[in-house]
Amino acid sequence: MLLRGERLGEISGEVLEFISSREADRWIFEADLLVDRAHLVMLKERGLISPEEFSEIVAGLDGIEEESLGEGEDVHEAIEAELIARIGAVGGRMHTGRSRNDEVATCIRIVLRGELLSLMAEVNGLARALAERADENVESIIPGFTHLQHAQPTTLAHHLLAHADALLRDFERLRDTYSRVNRSPLGAAAFASTGFDIDRNRTAELLGFEGLVENSMDAVSTRDFLLEALSNSAILMANLSRLAEELILWSTSEFGYMELDDLFTSTSSIMPQKKNPDTAELVRGKTGSVFGSLIAAFTICKALPMSYNRDLQEATPNLWRGLSTTRVAVRIMAGSVGSAKFKTDRLEAASGAGFSTATELADSLVRKTKIPFRTAHQIVGALAAEGGTPTIRDLDEAAERIAGLRPSERGFGEKELMAALDPRENVAARSGTGGPAPAETMRMAADRLERIKENERLVGEMREKVDSALAALREMR
Ligand code: ARG
Repeated sequence: MLLRGERLGEISGEVLEFISSREADRWIFEADLLVDRAHLVMLKERGLISPEEFSEIVAGLDGIEEESLGEGEDVHEAIEAELIARIGAVGGRMHTGRSRNDEVATCIRIVLRGELLSLMAEVNGLARALAERADENVESIIPGFTHLQHAQPTTLAHHLLAHADALLRDFERLRDTYSRVNRSPLGAAAFASTGFDIDRNRTAELLGFEGLVENSMDAVSTRDFLLEALSNSAILMANLSRLAEELILWSTSEFGYMELDDLFTSTSSIMPQKKNPDTAELVRGKTGSVFGSLIAAFTICKALPMSYNRDLQEATPNLWRGLSTTRVAVRIMAGSVGSAKFKTDRLEAASGAGFSTATELADSLVRKTKIPFRTAHQIVGALAAEGGTPTIRDLDEAAERIAGLRPSERGFGEKELMAALDPRENVAARSGTGGPAPAETMRMAADRLERIKENERLVGEMREKVDSALAALREMR
């Protein structure tokens, strides 16, 4: 092995396996070669290696594939060892003025940057699916719940847009995190920077970063960017699990509000009739796994003294696990929502259940008869306790007893009662900002679709910046 050489005896077997990050380093293999190239270009430009040495080393890197790597503690050592095996001692110039500590931190940021872009794209996809289904359903009346009890009628559009707005916030958080992830720690070396006359801004530019993680001690030792990405993933999964839970509930025969497409369901090995919402259940379950990755990473990173500590290696796989799980979960949910069949007739029929129009009845009593809201609330509460659909007589009797007045004598007649008890009228009346009335949800759906389009454009632009920098770097000979 390359590094222990003259200093320490060789290791192999279980000790090597224990300290090795080779398994997780699959994630950063490509990134490591890019970091090597950027560092070499800069070394050449600063006259720290000759143009000939540069060409020789880059040509050596060109031939290296993951499968060709030998043993090593990590991918950094294995690549350098392979390079030297291929081109001789000149390959040993590559590690001038750097350490694996700044190298690995740079690699993680490069890969995480790509993962965040992919995740943001998936979040846009799900938000779009929700907003589009909402746009089709501004007139679809559904029951709205609090405490999972029928509360007030709303619309499917209103409900789906609530989930879409949560995802738009998830997008903002990811984008914000991206701006802190996309900074270069390279050139910090082990932690104390280097006496070689390197140019950190140049390697940052070559790798498509927006600036530096400047303090060299901070640069190698912080993993707060990784905690941030995992935190955002955990919050996103918490949001997703709420949607998943509803897909599961709404698909039961008790609710019967929707049917998932076959693709997103499974059957039973014994009960031939079964159509189970397994993908939504797994989104719900994987939410727990992502929380686990977050907690593992937090616990590993807490209380570490400055600067680099090998513990940090243990945090990284949690990042990859957490991010990749989140990404696929978002994608599966976009497919589920996009292909689901909502049973709008059944939803509308259920929308008045549990006297869910009671609030509007109390509200219209206030508007028509000018009694205080609390009095109206008590009158309607009494009607609810009696059960059944109230008539004008029931209303007059309850109001007489509680408030000493008869609504029918104050302009609140049969017509007003019918309107108050109609779920569709209930929804139409809630036309203020953020409410379920069709014009308002139509406005919100259009607004959200605009924002999603802008977010899609932003992701494309960020991706393009990174891709063009890396494409140019790959061409440098
Ligand atoms: N595999 C290591 C990690 O992930 C790379 C850095 C190793 N540095 C060291 N001083 N041993 O953190």
